[in-house]
Amino acid sequence: MLGFGPTRSEYGPPTLRGTFSGQAGCRGMSGASPVLLVRSGGPAALPEWRAAFAAVLPGIEVLGWTDPDLDPARVRWVLVWEPEPGRIAGYPNLRAVFSTAAGVDHITRDPFLPPHLPIVRMGAEEMARSVGEYVTMAALMILRDAPRMLAAHEAGRWDAFFPPRTARETRVGILGLGRIGQMAAGMLRGIGFPVQGWTRTRRTIQGVESFAGIDELDAFLASSDILVGILPDTPQTRALLNRERLAKLPKGAGLVSAGRGTLVVLPDLLAALDAGHLSFAVLDVFETEPLPPDSPAWKHPRVLVTAHVAGFASRRARAESVARAVAQIEAGEQPDNLYDRERGY
Ligand code: GLV
Repeated sequence: MLGFGPTRSEYGPPTLRGTFSGQAGCRGMSGASPVLLVRSGGPAALPEWRAAFAAVLPGIEVLGWTDPDLDPARVRWVLVWEPEPGRIAGYPNLRAVFSTAAGVDHITRDPFLPPHLPIVRMGAEEMARSVGEYVTMAALMILRDAPRMLAAHEAGRWDAFFPPRTARETRVGILGLGRIGQMAAGMLRGIGFPVQGWTRTRRTIQGVESFAGIDELDAFLASSDILVGILPDTPQTRALLNRERLAKLPKGAGLVSAGRGTLVVLPDLLAALDAGHLSFAVLDVFETEPLPPDSPAWKHPRVLVTAHVAGFASRRARAESVARAVAQIEAGEQPDNLYDRERGY
């Protein structure tokens, strides 16, 4: 993800009663207020986090990840981007981990993570909205052939050209129709793009044609003039867009990748662009981030690389989202956006 950090396992599903009821996580707190420990934005961001949480979670002390006086027993909640492995297991009274981002792969890769600890994805609407904006920008760049415009500008060449079709004649296929995918679908439809979506299990969303499961993937790809990847990283999504699958896209199709970089086999994508089968790829996520300086994607005339910036949300919006989930957990309910270990996201 996201520029929210200083730089930037599988277990059984939690049993809801045991996980979310009562105050079982409070032993050893000796009257001191519980702590929300934050690893996002570094020490410079702490005052803003404190102000944001003071408004929505009074009674909680917000401390930074590197606080030297931290008493591990007081930590009840953690809000993180890329915690170092083993660190979270050191808080005996921790009741949930909140991701600063929509994805949680940067947390679940910790092999020491306690097996039944609830992990909650960032649900702030701003997050979905910002990714939707990015996807819309990218779809329009593909539609209007932004690489040709930029090349003409660079060369000082008056290159008057028009796209072969309008948005209404350009079908966008979105891989992943969760909150973010649905937000993007709504924005794209507002512009006039017909939209279809592909999901693990069938989703009925008004105005969005549905494809589900691996059996319908080829048909979905074959009818997607612009393909948008917003899938999380799971064993099922890794390398899903390989040479064979990219070949199923219509000739001249464009690609937007804004979920996780593991979805796309980058050399296969570059080969499909070189062969002229695909027209333009707007990539925000990569298997290795930052994208190494020697990656051919940087220099490719038909690729736009951005630095994992599609999704963002203000600290205020993220604090509100965390506070909502805390209230749900404290009421013994399952929080919205709970990570499901079976599904993998
Ligand atoms: C961004 O990568 C996110 O997970 O929100």
